[in-house]
Amino acid sequence: MRFQYDTIGERFVEAKTTAAFAAADTHTLLGALDALGGVRGLDTIDLACGYGYNTRLLARGGARRAVGVDISEEMIRLARAHGVIGGGGVGALEGAVGAVRPVGAAGAADAAGAADAAEVAGGPGADGAAGAAGAASGAGEDTGAAPAVEYVVADAAKLPQMGPFDLATAVYLFNQAADRSSLHAMFRSIRANLREGGRLLAIVPNAGAYPHVDWSPYGVRIVDRVLEGDAPLLKAQFLTKPPADFEFREWAHADFAEAAVEAGFSTVGWQPNRTPPAEGARDDAYWTAYRAWPISSLMTCTA
Ligand SMILES: C[S@@+](CC[C@H](N)C(=O)[O-])C[C@H]1O[C@@H](n2cnc3c(N)ncnc32)[C@H](O)[C@@H]1O
Repeated sequence: MRFQYDTIGERFVEAKTTAAFAAADTHTLLGALDALGGVRGLDTIDLACGYGYNTRLLARGGARRAVGVDISEEMIRLARAHGVIGGGGVGALEGAVGAVRPVGAAGAADAAGAADAAEVAGGPGADGAAGAAGAASGAGEDTGAAPAVEYVVADAAKLPQMGPFDLATAVYLFNQAADRSSLHAMFRSIRANLREGGRLLAIVPNAGAYPHVDWSPYGVRIVDRVLEGDAPLLKAQFLTKPPADFEFREWAHADFAEAAVEAGFSTVGWQPNRTPPAEGARDDAYWTAYRAWPISSLMTCTA
């Protein structure tokens, strides 16, 4: 079965590394990780990992385990191809907060090599839960060494037991849920993989902007909103060269919160999007306008 990101592939890499909205999302996520005290020594899972951008942030921040899960075989292929340090743009942002500083200045290059080796060892055989378990066996104590990054092709609504994890990240996962039962299943399967007290940090779109807000200066354009099913279908484009069409569901924040509570999360909190420091054409006015109607918010849930 093919999924939309099997086709988008490299266009998404371009959007993630060039679009302002993606820079704001990364800044927001890093700020939240920093506020939680960083990821060093934690067992972490990154849902809807795409080409592994955020999975790599977790690994480089010193997570003991960093598992990336995506439903698209093409995105997981790209994730593996990027290794641990790859994925342009990360380096510029990592200095902004302490959470994801490399495992040690001197050790960074060694760490990259070790993690790349682990990834190669996990290799194509790491597809699926059995492969993930095999690769995970290499994850050891928090010795300061880089973790084994594992990539797994799986539907976040039907996750096997892969944990337990201390932290889950989900950047634009929940808006992919095609119906309410899938949305609830995603939260349930994440909750089932978290330790008691573990956290879920999710970047989710804000509803209600279309047709009032133009996000094209920030790298995305919504072109249509179709009323159907459990949530409106938004048709959109990443403003890459050439533009890449994609679709997602316009769930309300209340829908996400309801699904989290039903899944057994004990707290649900919201934070507005944060934006990177002004620089060049992305000056104060540019980011101030974005913060008035950002594409996304940060949802934080406690298991
Ligand atoms: C907008 S991309 C975000 C990728 C990544 N989180 C990032 O920020 O770079 C959304 C990703 O969700 C994945 N996805 C969609 N439905 C999914 C599901 N049910 N389970 C896991 N991944 C899914 C897509 O294949 C795609 O890679």
